[in-house]
Amino acid sequence: MKIIMLGAPGAGKGTQAKKIADAYHIPHISTGDIFRANLKEGTELGLKAKEYMDRGELVPDELTCDLVMDRIQKDDAKEGFVLDGFPRTIPQAEALTEALKKIGQVMDIAINVDVPDENIIERMGGRRACVGCGATYHIVTVPPKTEGKCDRCGADLILRDDDKPETVKKRLEVYHAQTQPLIDYYEKQGILKTVDGTKAPADVEADIFGLLKA
Ligand code: AP5
Repeated sequence: MKIIMLGAPGAGKGTQAKKIADAYHIPHISTGDIFRANLKEGTELGLKAKEYMDRGELVPDELTCDLVMDRIQKDDAKEGFVLDGFPRTIPQAEALTEALKKIGQVMDIAINVDVPDENIIERMGGRRACVGCGATYHIVTVPPKTEGKCDRCGADLILRDDDKPETVKKRLEVYHAQTQPLIDYYEKQGILKTVDGTKAPADVEADIFGLLKA
């Protein structure tokens, strides 16, 4: 199963993508996580990406596309994958469609996790991300079992630099201008499904699994 998660920053794409990846035994490919891992390792890509991420802007397509095309061709992605945070622009979506076409494949489903802007700002201030494995929590709606520690790997939980309110506002502007057009793009391909991302995480998960099993 080849799945794309669409939605505004903070809509819950990562939360749900991890559940899907675990259930279907396919890799969860998050471009945001890849950039953050590169930054942690101090690579040139990580340092370049940080400049854009800290401003709430998109990392240029030329730094992003090849990275994803290489990743989806790795052995562990042969049975499928969940893309989280990619594609984010029409050129990225076109690059993905073309790359798959060359190997006779297509994406199976694009799931749009729909959450209005007003809910997003509130969510982001409460998000905590694991410095070890990238798992995400929310101090109210998805709390870890032990405060400040990841349930999965025990590493520390932090507030991401780009979750400050001014940066979140910019990320939402960028989302509406550059990423929202992908909803039409995948609707035209006939693979778009939308779920109400304002429901509780377990209910969003049930709706998504209902779509995947249909
Ligand atoms: P990225 O890391 O992809 O961030 P994002 O898309 O902005 O999405 P988030 O990770 O912020 O949110 P999410 O939808 O995964 O929500 P989550 O599940 O965490 O990208 C960061 C930056 O990297 C970009 O700004 C850009 O600069 C760059 N970048 C990445 N990909 C790129 C690309 N392809 N091209 C160019 N640049 C790129 O949930 C959010 C919070 O809400 C959590 O606290 C969670 O616990 C909570 N929550 C989840 N679901 C619910 C629910 N149903 N109810 C209540 N709370 C919930």
